[in-house]
Amino acid sequence: MSPKSPTTPTYILGIESSCDDTSVAVLRDGILLSNVTASQAVHEAYGGVVPELASRAHQQNIVPVVDAALKRAGIEREQLSAIAFTRGPGLLGSLLVGVSFAKGLAASLGIPMMDVNHLHGHVLAHFIKEEQGAGGKEQGAGSKEQGAGGKGQEDTSRPDNPSAPCPLPTAPQFPFLCLLVSGGNSQIILVKSYKEMEIIGQTIDDAAGEAIDKCSKVMGLGYPGGPIIDRLARQGNPDAFTFSKPNIHGYDYSFSGLKTSFLYNLRDWLKDDPDFIEHHKEDLAASLEKTIVDILMKKLRLAARDLKIRQVAVAGGVSANTGLRNAFHDYARRYGWQVFIPRFSYTTDNAAMIAIAGYFKYLDHDFCPMSAPAYSRVSVGV
Ligand code: KG4
Repeated sequence: MSPKSPTTPTYILGIESSCDDTSVAVLRDGILLSNVTASQAVHEAYGGVVPELASRAHQQNIVPVVDAALKRAGIEREQLSAIAFTRGPGLLGSLLVGVSFAKGLAASLGIPMMDVNHLHGHVLAHFIKEEQGAGGKEQGAGSKEQGAGGKGQEDTSRPDNPSAPCPLPTAPQFPFLCLLVSGGNSQIILVKSYKEMEIIGQTIDDAAGEAIDKCSKVMGLGYPGGPIIDRLARQGNPDAFTFSKPNIHGYDYSFSGLKTSFLYNLRDWLKDDPDFIEHHKEDLAASLEKTIVDILMKKLRLAARDLKIRQVAVAGGVSANTGLRNAFHDYARRYGWQVFIPRFSYTTDNAAMIAIAGYFKYLDHDFCPMSAPAYSRVSVGV
């Protein structure tokens, strides 16, 4: 299967189904036309994602979500040029739904497919471009803050592919650092190009999001804990409590000690005051958030300083956190960083990021065979 003639618009369908969101996006020549996501409320009652329920919900959602994304983009499926899909990492049952659907649709339309590493998708979310309804103006996916000593906007971003779309001023330029923080990952990635990414630091145990979710769970708050902790933290004192911070070599992270420290402290405080959580939940949330943000930013700063990189991005579900976003702006001012923070809609799992990652592969004619299986585990370097 070969790509369509370069004179016709290129329409890419992106499919994301790695966890509990069924998401489908459509791009025209690299510009986002639609991004439709069906979330799965079924997991709330269990305090975490139940893999079997997730894959069943994907099966129910995939056809209507694809239809809705095509409709919103104003195109028929026969106009599609290629299909990008998340191949991994993630929950295997969930991935299988998206992978199988992508293969079936690509085969029936006789068009190529591009497999996307979900983690690459998060990093490349910074290159999503939207069609601006009213003014017809394109806009980048994120907000940007220029630090005091930050660089200007020269375009050095297409070293390996001259046919790649010219990124908008709000997209980072290569090489840049990306802090990828989600429920399953905490990594510092050196992004050298659209396809060359090197993990220079990562958690040796729990991910930041996982630690937040677990601490929220021991406080008896809802799932997922991240947004709840974020909301409570806004009303609390971040210096009210101190929790242990890890002492890990290099750019690696660790969050399991913090989680244990939070749990043991809470147990002691509850002995003296059974209503301790109710009385102090805002301060607990604010202090927990501050500790996690401090840990994340300290290593990121170390890496940026050592590598002499001032373009620093953040991605993944935890990048929605207000304290972390504020810390990025603060570091931009203090260290002259140029920071890239995704829109809220592109922090959590979404198909727009898969579609743009697939589009770069499409331009390189980097297609995936029908035999490519889904994979549950892989690092961002793959
Ligand atoms: O990238 P993501 O959507 O998915 C997976 O890792 O699968 O990240 C989900 C994580 C969860 O741990 C969630 O609690 C966290 O992102 N999260 C937040 C916020 N919103 C989502 N953490 C802190 N503050 C938030 N506002």
